[in-house]
Amino acid sequence: MAMKNIAVFASGSGSNAENLIRYFNDNQCEAKVNLVICNKQNAGVVDRASQLGVDCVVLSKDQINNSETLLPILSGHNIDIIVLAGFLLLIPQFLVDNYENRIVNIHPALLPKFGGKGMYGRHVHEAVVAAGENETGITIHYVNGHYDSGDIIFQAKVDLSPDDTADDVEVKVRQLEQIHFAKVIYNTFFSK
Ligand code: GRF
Repeated sequence: MAMKNIAVFASGSGSNAENLIRYFNDNQCEAKVNLVICNKQNAGVVDRASQLGVDCVVLSKDQINNSETLLPILSGHNIDIIVLAGFLLLIPQFLVDNYENRIVNIHPALLPKFGGKGMYGRHVHEAVVAAGENETGITIHYVNGHYDSGDIIFQAKVDLSPDDTADDVEVKVRQLEQIHFAKVIYNTFFSK
């Protein structure tokens, strides 16, 4: 079977991007991450990709929203699947159309709660603590043209205690991300 290529879009430290790169490098399956797209020059993910030998292209918001810029970069790497891992920009409609049901995002809470514009990273965990939730988790979902509202593929939960801070919640959620994200991508697209 022909090798399938994954592009990871990320804006932050890149712990999820690194985990995805390593998972598909280590697993003898027909997929690998061969491209990282980032919208912030100084994001940690840029260094991580370079250390792991994966091409990383930094693009401005305008370049990401321009089909004539973005699509040739993706087709130049023969990208089949796009994984958003802490990517903070809204995905433009032309990309949703070109990669229908082939773009997946991870959200660090149990959607539909704590999703939508502005709900990312620490903001999510702070909102979860402020709401007095007794559990949180991760949601892996397909991407449509709106924030955090595509069909849900997978959720995993973790219990919270009343004295958990946003930092504590982040640690728990990141553990779930490391355990599940790459496996869910594999099971969704590559295990059949
Ligand atoms: C993760 O919690 C992810 O779920 C969220 O943003 C964070 C990104 O972390 N959407 P990293 O850049 O992968 O370390």
